Amino acid sequence: MAEPVFDSNKVTVIFVLGGPGAGKGTQCGRLVEDFDFCHLSAGDLLRGEQNREGSEYGDLIRTCIREGTIVPMEVTIKLLENAMAAALTERTSGEGWTDGKGRFLIDGFPRKMDQALKFEEEVCVSSLTIYFSTTEEVMLSRLLERGKTSGREDDNVESIKKRFRTYRSDTMPVIEHYAKENKVAEIDSTGSIEEVHKVASAVVNKVFAEKSA
Ligand code: C5P
Ligand code: MG
Repeated sequence: MAEPVFDSNKVTVIFVLGGPGAGKGTQCGRLVEDFDFCHLSAGDLLRGEQNREGSEYGDLIRTCIREGTIVPMEVTIKLLENAMAAALTERTSGEGWTDGKGRFLIDGFPRKMDQALKFEEEVCVSSLTIYFSTTEEVMLSRLLERGKTSGREDDNVESIKKRFRTYRSDTMPVIEHYAKENKVAEIDSTGSIEEVHKVASAVVNKVFAEKSA
């Protein structure tokens, strides 16, 4: 079988999961400041592709996002692989990753088992999945608050309910799969940004300490 494109000795991949509104993007933003990660949000990459002129996937992505369903994995995996390659070229060729090693936080991915398996087989083996957990009540209120300014077509009650359903049916099995392999750090994300960040930062520190040991 072919090797993954990126060697996990040279590239650290941490997946970041949690329901919609759990705080993935916010926490990734904070971790970027601490660890010089490249933060790749699968949802943002898909929205970018959706709006790219001439994209053959625009309509497909728009429908999936509105309905809270998962875009076929080939599309998302290719976007991630391309973004990883671009970041590696850019950041290892000047300031940035001077040790030549890449560090990626991959946010909102893998949302479904097939994505997890294919990505690790073809692109890169992950080191850990950070799982931000809180109640649907908390997530709903955060998303409705965000919806006032996000301009996102899926930050409305109807889409949010569908996103919760997809999360329970498709994403929870991914978290359970990695938990069985002892590759999940569950972090309660109900508290303040600062409180959650402290815990997340300690988790990431441990990943790098173990990698360099
Ligand atoms: O993570 P985010 O909330 O930005 O994702 C928005 C939507 O993008 C999801 O509800 C889903 O429709 C799509 N998505 C996907 N596969 C992923 C990540 C996001 O289909 N891995
Ligand atoms: Mg996000």
